[in-house]
Amino acid sequence: LNETADVGIVGAGQLARMMLQAAIPLGLRVQVLAASPSDGGAIVASNVVIGSPDDPEALRAIAQSCRALTFDHELVSVPVLQQLEAEGYCIRPASSVMAVSQDKRLQRDLFSSCGLPVPRYAIVQEIEEAERFADETEYPVAVKAARGGYDGRGIWKVETENQLKDLTGSLLAREITPVIEPWVRLEREVAILIARRPGGETVVYPLVETVQERGMLKELVAPAEVPESLHETAAWIAIEVASALEVVGLLAVEFFVVDGELWINEIATRPHNSGHYTIEGTVTSQFEQHLRAVLDLPLGATGLTAPHVVTVNVVGSETQQDSDQSLRDALTVPGAHVHLYGKSWRPGRKLGHVTVAGDDLELVRSRARAAAAYLAGG
Ligand SMILES: Nc1ncnc2c1ncn2[C@@H]1O[C@H](COP(=O)(O)OP(=O)(O)OP(=O)(O)O)[C@@H](O)[C@H]1O
Ligand SMILES: [Mg+2]
Repeated sequence: LNETADVGIVGAGQLARMMLQAAIPLGLRVQVLAASPSDGGAIVASNVVIGSPDDPEALRAIAQSCRALTFDHELVSVPVLQQLEAEGYCIRPASSVMAVSQDKRLQRDLFSSCGLPVPRYAIVQEIEEAERFADETEYPVAVKAARGGYDGRGIWKVETENQLKDLTGSLLAREITPVIEPWVRLEREVAILIARRPGGETVVYPLVETVQERGMLKELVAPAEVPESLHETAAWIAIEVASALEVVGLLAVEFFVVDGELWINEIATRPHNSGHYTIEGTVTSQFEQHLRAVLDLPLGATGLTAPHVVTVNVVGSETQQDSDQSLRDALTVPGAHVHLYGKSWRPGRKLGHVTVAGDDLELVRSRARAAAAYLAGG
């Protein structure tokens, strides 16, 4: 073996960037496989290899030079990961977990087979199946590409039969398998993070409320202001899913709250946007925790550092701002922790986030929103 790093990360977006930041105090060496040298994680890494996550040789090279290989996103070829596991490389989470986290269809099937609550759903192989489902459950319905979606891309709210025919027809023609489900009347959305070591030790983070705008996460409130029973049920479900999958590293479970009950929406098996509040808001950040778990190091405490923590994403507005002035303005907001991802501005692009922690939820929220608004511009 020719090890140059403790952890290798496939992908070099903001999650890799924040993992790099967490690796520094632990003295861990990290190598990243970046698609482009200008990726937010690549520009701050000292050990970068440029290559595609689809290239088996690039993946083998990074697996060879690290004690454990992990991921910044799930769009990685499962057969290639299986091959690397067969060759003895340490892939965390395993290829079997990556297969599930990259496919909403496998997720729905797994959770329902475990008896966990999911919305009613069907896997669509023919247009008629989608029509039958929508007739039974009534419109609107949600149609989702089983793979490849993120930030609301790959999800459609469908109101009429004609729309449904056109959409499922065009997806099937492109060999994209859709999942169909009712467009549920959400009271709110919540999410929970859990970390698991190879031997099965787990730690669970507090349940948080997630507020989405146009399918993209906009705001996080920790802890979620919901009845205690939902906190308990969410933690229990997270433990069930983590053990069923034998996840190593972090697992995020996103839920819908419908009629006071939790339904699983989807999972991610890596650090997740719903955990960005943990950098300042909990004893151990999700990024550090993920590194600890994939290297089989002792896990850290997950308690909140303040009664209330709010994180607001910075999403590029329609008009470009003077970024020097935006930062100057954001930094005047008391207690605002600014995180920028090193990305160039584009309308609707996730550029960073701001976290504020404190005793008074309304004050914390308004400060986080104000700082994020300065940074987003417009
Ligand atoms: N069946 C549904 N009914 C109502 N709203 C839904 C439904 N499915 C998804 N949504 C809304 O769309 C958002 C994005 O959906 P989902 O989490 O499945 O997609 P994604 O694009 O994979 O997201 P992510 O960025 O979290 O990876 C959800 O958080 C929710 O607000
Ligand atoms: Mg989601």
